Amino acid sequence: SAELNPAILPLDWLLGTWESEEPGEGCFPTINPFRYIETLCFSHVGQPVINFMFNAFHAESKKPLHRECGFIRIQPGTNRVAFIIAQNSGLVEIEEGELTGHQLNLQTHALARISFAKEPHVQQISRVFQLRPDGRLEQTVSMATDNQPLMQHLRITYRRSS
Ligand code: HEM
Repeated sequence: SAELNPAILPLDWLLGTWESEEPGEGCFPTINPFRYIETLCFSHVGQPVINFMFNAFHAESKKPLHRECGFIRIQPGTNRVAFIIAQNSGLVEIEEGELTGHQLNLQTHALARISFAKEPHVQQISRVFQLRPDGRLEQTVSMATDNQPLMQHLRITYRRSS
């Protein structure tokens, strides 16, 4: 396997595969609350880039639901981080933010979608990844849509599986 590019060393705590331990919780004012399971995979090939895939499933039916994949870059010499993301719902997105210790705070910087994307359309996303002292990884996602202000949509905790 390729040697880690020093540019992504500050994010090495993300690398590997993570599985939700207890089901994540999904909510939004306009939908029924739901529970989901999710696998995250962060990898690299020696470039100053992390590659990622997130695959989510309904907790009870195990039906595949949401999927995202993309790339993570760090602006050299800074704590500025960018996520370049494609989602199966027809959304593509750039999120940018800052790395502070083992916490990443990201916000939508640019967003586009397919012409026939389902409504309501997302207008803003903000998310936090945090490696907790107990070794668990936590992700929370908030979003604003055409008709709702920024509010939490997802909250989930993962355990490293490899
Ligand atoms: C609903 C966006 C991730 C499961 C929604 C809605 C939006 C949305 C805009 C419709 C809200 C409304 O009708 O007012 C997003 C975005 C995500 C994301 C931008 C990632 C950044 C996920 C994930 C799951 C999920 C990881 C896990 C399974 C659902 C479910 C609904 C929903 C079950 C309600 C039923 C439906 O409309 O399909 N999401 N979502 N979402 N989302 Fe997400």
